[in-house]
Amino acid sequence: MAIERTLSMLKPDAVKNNITGKINSYIESSELKIIAQKMMLLTKKQAELFYEIHKDRSFFLELVEFMTSGPVIVQVLVGENAVSKYRQIMGATDPKQAEKGTIRGDFADDISENRVHGSDSLENARKEIAFFFAECELV
Ligand code: CMP
Repeated sequence: MAIERTLSMLKPDAVKNNITGKINSYIESSELKIIAQKMMLLTKKQAELFYEIHKDRSFFLELVEFMTSGPVIVQVLVGENAVSKYRQIMGATDPKQAEKGTIRGDFADDISENRVHGSDSLENARKEIAFFFAECELV
């Protein structure tokens, strides 16, 4: 099995609702390790660039507004098949379809405020990690 890195983001709703520790416990109970973590307030420009792939979607403006509405925590997770493993731990993008026992299934109820983001491919994980972290910050 391949050891991978993936980007995780605990969104403004997770920070506002004071559940970042609970979310980290889901991550740490899996075999993934948090090797970098920082809290930051995204600028509009950063949110637009990060979600550029969705720029033509109807929800883009709402997404950028939400992602800049308060601090987020960006993290780098490492482990075997980290990209797909974290997506399993997060649960489906739409919390209504997410299984119990997943982060979204247990803590979210709205697709636009779904508590967490995780990279959807190894290629995007590399890009998203480089978006937020310098290599020397990954310990
Ligand atoms: P995320 O995994 O961060 O990737 C893109 C985000 O866009 C997604 O989680 C949702 O928060 C948001 N999103 C996706 N589809 C919709 C939708 N139909 N309406 C509102 N927000 C959406």
